[in-house]
Amino acid sequence: MRMPDTSEILLLVQGVSLAFGGVKALRDVSFDIRKGEIRAIIGPNGAGKTSMLNVINGFYHPNHGAITFKGQTRAQMQPFEASRGGIARTFQNVALFRGMSALDNIMAGRTLRMRRGLFLQMLRYGPALAEEIEHRHRVEEIIDFLEIEAIRKVPVARLPYGLQKRVELGRALAMEPDLLLLDEPMAGMNLEEKEDMSRFIVDVNNHYGTTIALIEHDMAVVMDLSHRVAVLDHGVKIADGTPDEVKKNQGVIDAYLGVAH
Ligand SMILES: Nc1ncnc2c1ncn2[C@@H]1O[C@H](COP(=O)(O)OP(=O)(O)OP(=O)(O)O)[C@@H](O)[C@H]1O
Ligand SMILES: [Mg+2]
Repeated sequence: MRMPDTSEILLLVQGVSLAFGGVKALRDVSFDIRKGEIRAIIGPNGAGKTSMLNVINGFYHPNHGAITFKGQTRAQMQPFEASRGGIARTFQNVALFRGMSALDNIMAGRTLRMRRGLFLQMLRYGPALAEEIEHRHRVEEIIDFLEIEAIRKVPVARLPYGLQKRVELGRALAMEPDLLLLDEPMAGMNLEEKEDMSRFIVDVNNHYGTTIALIEHDMAVVMDLSHRVAVLDHGVKIADGTPDEVKKNQGVIDAYLGVAH
């Protein structure tokens, strides 16, 4: 597998803990994500994987610990700061505007990048018009890249699940993120849809150079796609390394077999 070109750290998570009442979702978790890599976060149900992504993009604020993104350290971040800063994500349950077309959903991902005020946008005046043309151009490029020309005008509610997930990926890509967070992008897919999605994830990483954090339950996919894997269990990081290292780790094997600890 092609390894990322640099060992530069894009995101550093240090000693993050997060509790919901009595539930300790994350306990003193630390790891890093290097620029250009596909970094998997795996673990049994309830391990804290989604919570970790929510801390990274500012949906949740950790009780302890800090996140350093592009060299800037914060105890917490607001979601809009995360997206402005270049973090985009997809959700475990598809989150799209269901009545809107695939095209409009992807266009919505551009909104954050629009510089001109809404007033000028509405008037379609001067610089705002030029900007809209540029946005349309980028959106078309993404539609082409994800091979969804045929469904561009279809309301997403009418699309099969696998394609909805692809549109959601498109919306995240429209933000031109430096870090893309994918929460189970292949959940609920059949084999063919999974293969398609795997290919797109690798292509995004190669073609756009986007750094990716990937939560996925399918071990074959994780082992195949990712450069490095962090393993969570009951909110604790129990292993971290290359797919081969993690696969052989006894703690990981026990966690997946449900051995008490
Ligand atoms: N908003 C919340 N309020 C209360 N408890 C929560 C909340 N979000 C997560 N939890 C709890 O935190 C723990 C970790 O949940 P999380 O969703 O992060 O796990 P996960 O690894 O993503 O699991 P899954 O594989 O099932 O998606 C679980 O015990 C869960 O019930
Ligand atoms: Mg989850």
